[in-house]
Amino acid sequence: MTPTPTVGRAAFVAARARAVRGLRGRVLEIGAGRGANFADLGPGVEWLGLESAAGPRRRLAVNARRHGHLAPPIAASAESVPLPASSVDGVLGTTVLCSVRDPAAVLDEVARVLVPGGRLVLAEHVAAPPGSGVRALQQAVRPWTRLLDHGCDPTRDTAAAVARSPLRLETVTWFLVPVLGRLGVPFVVIEASAPR
Ligand SMILES: C[S@@+](CC[C@H](N)C(=O)[O-])C[C@H]1O[C@@H](n2cnc3c(N)ncnc32)[C@H](O)[C@@H]1O
Repeated sequence: MTPTPTVGRAAFVAARARAVRGLRGRVLEIGAGRGANFADLGPGVEWLGLESAAGPRRRLAVNARRHGHLAPPIAASAESVPLPASSVDGVLGTTVLCSVRDPAAVLDEVARVLVPGGRLVLAEHVAAPPGSGVRALQQAVRPWTRLLDHGCDPTRDTAAAVARSPLRLETVTWFLVPVLGRLGVPFVVIEASAPR
């Protein structure tokens, strides 16, 4: 059963920032876009960015350098990460599991590249409960968001996908974030770890 969500964007943003700040060491950010999370990374984090689309990747490189992260973003898809096994301490993804072609393959790759006990932080919008008005709306707009918004599928249950993956699901914190006017869309902050 889904616990009662906290309502409001500010609460979600604060929880996402807290989780990002908890990442340590060498951190791979998947689907990094233009780089929305630099301000929240802890001091001493060695950031590696992966982004499949060329346009955002160019902006990402500029923003990364501005924040002191000199490694050029990796041009690859998160379903096939060109890094060795057990090579990063943390993986971060924000509003990206909604967009990837194959979430299960991405989570397998996350489990592969993380060191044993390494941390995954995800902050994602997810499917509303079946039968709800918001879920019906998510189903209705899905063909358009798939086409026009980075392949975004608003009907994904990302917490369930992590639970089915080789990772150990630790916490899922639920939020209801007003998106269009007063329409509340469920968001989650997920923390998981690689098996030891
Ligand atoms: C909604 S944007 C989020 C960007 C950023 N994480 C943020 O929070 O602002 C999703 C990003 O994931 C990228 N993306 C989509 N599918 C991907 C994949 N399979 N592998 C890597 N990046 C992907 C898109 O190009 C886009 O930049």
